[in-house]
Amino acid sequence: MPNIKLTENDLQSILSFSVELARTSGALILEGSAAIQSTSSQSDISEKNNSVDLVTEYDVRVEDLVKKSIKEKYPLFNFIGEESYSSGNRPPLTEEPTFCVDPIDGTTNFIHGFPFVCISLGLIYDRRPVLGVIYNPFLDQMYTGIRGQGSFLQRGATASRQRLPLASPPKPLPSLSQALIAVEWGSDRRKVTIDTKSQSFSRLAGNPAQGVEDGKMAHSLRSLGSAALNFALVAQGGLDIYWEIGCWPWDVCAGIVIAEEAGGLVSGSHSFFASTSETERFGVVTEELLTGRKYIVVRAIADTSTERGIDAQRRIIKEFYESVQDVDTT
Ligand code: IPD
Ligand code: CA
Repeated sequence: MPNIKLTENDLQSILSFSVELARTSGALILEGSAAIQSTSSQSDISEKNNSVDLVTEYDVRVEDLVKKSIKEKYPLFNFIGEESYSSGNRPPLTEEPTFCVDPIDGTTNFIHGFPFVCISLGLIYDRRPVLGVIYNPFLDQMYTGIRGQGSFLQRGATASRQRLPLASPPKPLPSLSQALIAVEWGSDRRKVTIDTKSQSFSRLAGNPAQGVEDGKMAHSLRSLGSAALNFALVAQGGLDIYWEIGCWPWDVCAGIVIAEEAGGLVSGSHSFFASTSETERFGVVTEELLTGRKYIVVRAIADTSTERGIDAQRRIIKEFYESVQDVDTT
């Protein structure tokens, strides 16, 4: 049991604080973007594991700002952040409230000026994601969610919040062939990974009547370049499914809460899905799932007279996992 007890009211005030912090961080992200786009110098951009795994001075500055603000306001909370983790600060997960933060999700987009970039602020409590804020300062879109209290989108600082998903009731999803699916290339570019992913993408998109064996002919595939925004778009209902191998808890923690509160269903790897899908653990985001680095999320699907929404989500994930292949993470 956690020593620090959080009530629903506490979570609401943590959400207000996080929204404010996301807006302040968003201003710094925009300032950084202007600086990066106005110079041809690449000196602010560094490589992490390889030449497509990038970090800028602004990833570190935003994380420092966020970490400091959290420390001041919630000195007893733990903190996991992408850049702190990269520089060796890797605290184990405990039951206590823990902010799980990606200061800039979509760093490659940030560098290129492609406006799908966000800050992702998640809170883990009792080892489960319970609160999420995802803010894209380029589009001024704020996604928020608290476990048990719904999730929302606010477009523009003065607009009213819209409950997610935007479609009410949620639309049906008869099969993968009707789906708009987000996938990502990620930064693991080993032959085995790229070949396996490419074959999976080919099967999802390809026409079985025109030579693509087991092709599903999905409506299309998208890569926004930000795991957090992919989750947010699934919550919204603009994407039907998002699948990725290789991202980290800070990429998905906030998105998990926002998607689940919008009726989305989150699961993990092929084996995680296989071992939980017919049990009461189906759709429960455990620590194993959160840290498992393999994620699939399906948007809300309304119940019909013949099938419950959760059964439709299970059926869609089953069809999806029969079409794509798993691959090890590095
Ligand atoms: C990355 C983005 C990308 C996903 C990678 C993440 P970053 O995060 O979310 O969409 O494919 O797995 O690492 O590096 O931009 O924070
Ligand atoms: Ca990042």
